[in-house]
Order: sequence, then C-alpha cells, then structure tokens
Amino acid sequence: MAISLDFSGKVAVVIGGTSGINRGIAELFAIHGAKVAVASRKQEKVDDTVARLQQLGADAMGFVADVRELEALEAGLQTVHERFGDFDIVVSGAAGNFPALANDLSGNAFKSVVDIDLRGTFHVMKAIYPHLKKPGASVINISAPQAFIPMKAQLHVCAAKAGVDMITRTLALEWGAAGVRVNSVVPGPIDGTEGMARLAPDENIRKMVARSVPLGRLGTPEDVGKVCLFLASDLGSFVTGTILPVDGGWSQNSCGGMSDYLGAAAARKPAG
Ligand code: HXC
Ligand code: NAP
Repeated sequence: MAISLDFSGKVAVVIGGTSGINRGIAELFAIHGAKVAVASRKQEKVDDTVARLQQLGADAMGFVADVRELEALEAGLQTVHERFGDFDIVVSGAAGNFPALANDLSGNAFKSVVDIDLRGTFHVMKAIYPHLKKPGASVINISAPQAFIPMKAQLHVCAAKAGVDMITRTLALEWGAAGVRVNSVVPGPIDGTEGMARLAPDENIRKMVARSVPLGRLGTPEDVGKVCLFLASDLGSFVTGTILPVDGGWSQNSCGGMSDYLGAAAARKPAG
C-alpha cells in the first residue's frame, strides 16, 4: 500500500497556532493540502497567520479564544465545524512559560501556567471531541521535556506539562474505542521561538544548549511539524498514547546544563 502525505480534503485545527512551533505545524499541514484553522488570544496574530496559510494555498480560517475559557473555545470551534466539517487533526499547543524559582512563584504565577498549559489542554480536548472524525481523528498535544525532566525554575511548567502527558495517555484509553488516536509531541530546544527567547535569552546560552543536543544543533518548527504529519497520516495508524520527543536526543542528555543554568539565572534575577 502506498502511503500518502497528501492531506487534501482533511481538516487540521491548531490551537495556539499563531506563532513559533505551532504556527510552523499549521503551515506544514497547509503546504500538504489540509484546510487549516488556528486560534489564539490575539486577533492580529490570528489574522497574520490565516493570511500566511492562504498564501500557502490553504483554505484557512481562525478565531480568537483564550484556552482558559471553555465557552470561547466551544464557540470558536463551532464556527470551524460549520465551515470545514469534522476535524481530522487537532494540535493543542497553547502554553505559557517564564523562569522563576519555586520560592519566587506566587500562587497566581503557578496558577497562570497550570491554567494555560494543563487546564487549557483539558478545555481543548473537551471542546473538540464532539467535532472529531470518528473513527480516524488524530489529536496531538504539544508537551515539553519538562514533563519528565525536572528543571530548576520550571516547577510550574514541569507540573503542568506532566499533566498534559497524562491527559494524552488517559484519553488514548478512553477515546481508542471511537477510533481517535491521542499522542504528545515533545519538542526539544527550537531555534527562534518565544520559548527559547525566554529560557535561553543570549547567544552564549543558545550555543551551550545547541552543543548539549546529541545531534549537535537546535531544532526547527519544521522538525516538529514533520513528526505531526507522520502521526496524523496513515504512517501513524497504530500509534496512540505515545509521548514522542522530537529533540535531537536532548532529553536523553537530561537537557544538558539547562536546569543548572536556569536555576542560577533565576537566583540572580528577582522574579516578576
Ligand atoms: C515570576 C511571573 C513572571 C516571572 C509573570 N509572573 N511573569 N512571576 N517571574 N518572570 C506572574 C505575575 O506576576 C502574576 O502573578 C502571574 O504570573 C500571572 O501574570 P500575568 O502577566 O497576569 O499573566 P497572563 O497575562 O495570564 O500571561 C501568562 C504568562 C505570559 C504565562 C505570564 O508570559 C504569557 O502569556 N505567555 C505566553 C507565551 C509564552 O510564554 N510562550 C513560551 C512557551 S515555551 P501575581 O502574583 O503578580 O498576580 C514553553 C516551553 C519552552 O512553554 C521549553 C524550551 C526548552
Ligand atoms: P509561542 O510562540 O509563544 O506560541 C504559543 C502560542 O499559543 C501562540 O500562538 C500564542 O498566541 C498562543 N497562546 C498563548 N497563551 C494562550 C492562551 N491562554 N490561549 C490561547 N492561545 C494562547 O511559543 P513556542 O515557543 O513556539 O512554544 C509552542 C509550544 O511548544 C508550547 O506548547 C511550548 O510549551 C512547546 N515547547 C516549546 C519549546 C521551544 O523550544 N520553544 C520547547 C519545548 C516545548 P497568543 O499570544 O495570540 O495567545
């Protein structure tokens, strides 16, 4: 059987798809023929991304929603379903991050990251389910190495992303009978992104991180997008409940010196 990476006629929804890694994933699905919908908090980012997806030849749309608000997500996803029909692929990747030691985290700071990453993922899962193609849909949660590699100044992110991966694994059990696959993709350090700007803000640390990746380089949004194409295609037809690092081996190396670097940098810089 010849397996195609042509997503013509398929519907891909990327939540948090208006910048960085997730936008790269949305663009790759557009290039491979899918109809693509994106969502995030800022109208101008949504508009800019939809224009780019259309430039790439895709039938594209977007809506504004904060993943912390279930009703806003439900309303936006309803409009996507009305225009595009059932969802073949959903990528859930909205997240927030800042480095801060646990002792410097206010209750609200911890809550803000858990609300976006973990509760937000729950909201996305709950809101998409009625619209998923059953059987056949592929759901991909964007996690982070912090889900299984403890890292100083990242307690909030570690806790939230570990929860995201358990959502993935539990839904693989619950939704398997309906023919819906659910996986996590775990990007490593991806060059030029907001996440790297926040955690590796200068050229020296950026180079240190690149050296600590076994494959010897930082990743690209396309590296991550290609694995999403695999999971969403027939190539991934028997893959569910998997937590799949796309990190050049970085997590095998405990993410190099990232934890100690972040701990030291956060100790020098007061929180807030
Ligand atoms: C300590 C901080 C802080 C900091 C914010 N807070 N920044 N505490 N150190 N550097 C605290 C605030 O003081 C406040 O607590 C609480 O967090 C909420 O802050 P708000 O600004 O009101 O939150 P909000 O507007 O909801 O914004 C959420 C956010 C923001 C996470 C703080 O940065 C955001 O929207 N980020 C989205 C983009 C992003 O982070 N992308 C990177 C993803 S990368 P108080 O107590 O004062 O009220 C990623 C993994 C990267 O996830 C891995 C790389 C290897
Ligand atoms: P990014 O550019 O900041 O992307 C985050 C996206 O989510 C944006 O589109 C943002 O748009 C949206 N978003 C943020 N908060 C939201 C909210 N409350 N509701 C709805 N949308 C929201 O970050 P990135 O660095 O590319 O990271 C993307 C994903 O990869 C995240 O899940 C992150 O944890 C993961 N990751 C990144 C790296 C890395 O190296 N960068 C490594 C490992 C994992 P708005 O601002 O318009 O809302």
